[in-house]
Amino acid sequence: MCGIVGYIGSRGAYPILINGLKRLEYRGYDSAGVALQNGGVRIYRKTGKVARLEEFCKDKDTNGTIGIGHTRWATHGEPSDANAHPHISKYGDVVLVHNGIIENYTALALILNQCGYALDPREKTDTEILANWIEHIWHEQKKESTCTFEDAVRDSLRTVVGAYAIVVITPHDHQMIVANHGSTGLVLGIGRDEIFVGSDATPFIDYTKDVITIEDGQMAVLLEKGEYHIKNSEQKEIEPAIEKVLLTLEEIEKGAFPHFMLKEIFEQPKTIADSMRGRISLANSKVLLGGMKIHEERIARARKIVFVACGTSYYASLIGEYLIETLARIDVQVEYASEFRYRNPILGEDDVVIGISQSGETADTNEAVKLAHTKGALVLGICNVVGAMMSKINDGGTYTHAGKEIGVASTKAFTAQLTVLSLFALWMGRTRGMIDENKYQILLRELESIPASVEKVLAQDALIRDIAKKYYQSTNAIYLGRGINFPVALEGPLKLKEISYIHAEGYPAAEMKHGPIALIDENMPVIFIATEGEYLDKVKSNMNTVKSRGGKIIAIVTEGDTEISSLANVVVPVPKVSEIFSPFLTVVPLQLLAYHIAAFRGTDIDKPRNLSKSVSVE
Ligand code: AGP
Ligand code: GLU
Repeated sequence: MCGIVGYIGSRGAYPILINGLKRLEYRGYDSAGVALQNGGVRIYRKTGKVARLEEFCKDKDTNGTIGIGHTRWATHGEPSDANAHPHISKYGDVVLVHNGIIENYTALALILNQCGYALDPREKTDTEILANWIEHIWHEQKKESTCTFEDAVRDSLRTVVGAYAIVVITPHDHQMIVANHGSTGLVLGIGRDEIFVGSDATPFIDYTKDVITIEDGQMAVLLEKGEYHIKNSEQKEIEPAIEKVLLTLEEIEKGAFPHFMLKEIFEQPKTIADSMRGRISLANSKVLLGGMKIHEERIARARKIVFVACGTSYYASLIGEYLIETLARIDVQVEYASEFRYRNPILGEDDVVIGISQSGETADTNEAVKLAHTKGALVLGICNVVGAMMSKINDGGTYTHAGKEIGVASTKAFTAQLTVLSLFALWMGRTRGMIDENKYQILLRELESIPASVEKVLAQDALIRDIAKKYYQSTNAIYLGRGINFPVALEGPLKLKEISYIHAEGYPAAEMKHGPIALIDENMPVIFIATEGEYLDKVKSNMNTVKSRGGKIIAIVTEGDTEISSLANVVVPVPKVSEIFSPFLTVVPLQLLAYHIAAFRGTDIDKPRNLSKSVSVE
């Protein structure tokens, strides 16, 4: 996600833009830029935070009463001055800022390059290609008839695939066009003779509290003197209600949520979908992992794949091990990066090492990746921050598109990692002939349905909050799972430890009888992941063992499973999915349980004691 601002009215736009961008930096800040229209259009862009852009603009001509601005969270293309928004088209007729992902930007670039443009999609952002696409359509249509700027934007978006919110200006007209397609976060601030644009209302609530939300499929043309008209996806003029914004700045940043962590838990249907977006080809339903495809042959014949990671990313790697060994039948090892880097591991040309890291700045993981390189292995990365250190020290990789994750306890980045790992395992399974085309298609379709299933789990939030209210004063907890849900039984307690400071441990369910069962008493909650799968009968016997010793059982179960529900004190039902995709659903109740327990305990959920979001030191 990124931050977008716009202004059209009678004031100088620049101060409104730059101060508005500062308020949106929580949405991402790997670069920032503004474009000001005053006759022509002047664009100023800089990597880094908004303050660096402001410093750069100090001695520049920042006049103009029409302007747009952007603070970027890159998804396509390194953070750089050249990749910063706003982007201007080749002939200077279109200038735009964009939030989201253009899925078919490569296809658009191919068409543009046949029409005299020179846009290499491997180097250009999807946004720059979009700006040129709109210009190209405008030029083409002007050959046939008088085509307005508004027509050009509307017509060009008909062939654009993706989820995006855009704000577009041109040097030729005093107007601004905003459009939303499958995205969130595009609002207008309505003044007496001026209009503001923002990803949320924070940039302009000092000027007006009258807000119109531009919904999915809507496009608005903003004119001077506060005039505007909005059309819906059927091209019908609409008069959306003007709402009063009564929230504080901080409340707007978190949306309707009291903490960023809860907001990010609830963002997961979107971030899982975004992490798939553009990676399952619409035509032939094939997986497209661009940054790894160039190494397809070497990965397919790998002797083994070694994951190196820390914390939650390590637990995602453990799930990746199950996915890849099940679907692709490649031997997988998962290593704590902090151990791997000091162990002189046995690695060679036939091995593939994959570093997984949300931040891409974790010192132990990056050092492990560098070590793997010295051993001759192919080194790949799965990271959530475009241009982070990890992306500079590997041979290729894939970005998760979870957007900026602010809560220290990782949630949406974890399920985004699972998304990329699922795509990778399916791609490798098909490439190596381990799964037939029919099963490949069935599993791809099911993966695409996961966001909707996660929505159903999130709908259990009130139930989970009630469970948290009953157990938030516990001093210990044990989490148990089997198979692909054993790593989820490790991730759940990490969430609880991090934000509620309750001691919690995770074990393979069968391990209970090898010692931990001594801990069971009537005060300690035991959380079982007991969804339908190969080992469910064995999980039931583990539950009976705990129950017979007075343990309090919270069970995550497949909806409709009444038998296992009789073994637990309380159950949280989740939709039925293939066992290999069940972690997407079983982790969400554990994220919410940890969140609500911490909320009842009054800890600093977004910034827990002793922790930092990225451990970039040894
Ligand atoms: C996860 O909730 C923790 N904040 C922590 O374990 C984290 O996963 C770990 O530090 C690794 O971070 P990375 O994914 O950015 O490398
Ligand atoms: N996909 C665009 C880019 O990478 C926009 C990213 C964003 O939403 O900030 O530049």
